[in-house]
Amino acid sequence: MTILDGKKVSNDIKNEITAEVDKMKAKNEKVPHLAAVIVGNDGASLTYVGSKVRSCERVGFKSTLVKLSGTISELELLDKIDRLNEDEDIDGFIVQLPLPKQIDTQKVIMRIDPNKDVDGFHPANFGKMALDMTSFIPATPFGILELLERYNVQTNGKHTVVIGRSHIVGRPMSILMGRKGWPGNSTVTLTHSHTKNITQITSQADIVISALGIPNFLKAEMVKDDAVIIDVGITRVPDDSAKKGYVITGDVDYENVSKKASHITPVPGGVGPMTIAMLLKNTLLAREQHRL
Ligand code: GUN
Repeated sequence: MTILDGKKVSNDIKNEITAEVDKMKAKNEKVPHLAAVIVGNDGASLTYVGSKVRSCERVGFKSTLVKLSGTISELELLDKIDRLNEDEDIDGFIVQLPLPKQIDTQKVIMRIDPNKDVDGFHPANFGKMALDMTSFIPATPFGILELLERYNVQTNGKHTVVIGRSHIVGRPMSILMGRKGWPGNSTVTLTHSHTKNITQITSQADIVISALGIPNFLKAEMVKDDAVIIDVGITRVPDDSAKKGYVITGDVDYENVSKKASHITPVPGGVGPMTIAMLLKNTLLAREQHRL
């Protein structure tokens, strides 16, 4: 059984990005600049955005954190996005999701300049992705592809079952695994809350990618021997004995599923760190495009 060590691979990627930034510095070129917008005070979102900004510092990028009140109007947020679109120093930016109820998320995403949309959420980028065109690929699915590639996991002709159809992970993942080339060329089944007999489907999968957000959902009896298991779940489960009062728990019953799997991602230390590394990679690509 091979543990797909996202922490290690993400460190390798960050080192590669640092080397690229060092080359830019040596040539007196402007280094990549990522901005992150956070609306409100959600603890998990603040943690994620904090990690993104710290990772920028680690690789030598410039970063800007835009903190906005949770009571901001949609119009004010759209105005802020217009300013980030126009700011020539900023190569790419993200708006951390979820957004408060008064704001239409899709309207916000549509306002982002697709050339600065390093999350790859804008329909222009999403459409290009589905059409095999060059685009920004959403960081979590991109990170999973990178992990499969660096561990030389074969996907050609395999049956990949994706659990969850979110716009950020499940839906794009289902498209990417079915695209031409490697990692891809998979036969994909996208399952969701209306899927019947999910065990019957997951137990036929060569590769299971679970992005559901239900702790320990995927049990050993739901997967076949030697399956590749990718766990995207990062649910905070209250635990008084933990220092922070909670533990990050994946969708997969790791202890039992890992006994059957050929490859598996741990939580934490699997997909999570890869997401941040690929956001940095997208920002580097944005910088390079702006230079052309
Ligand atoms: N919320 C959860 N994951 C993400 C992500 O990858 N990008 C943004 N912007 N928000 C998120």
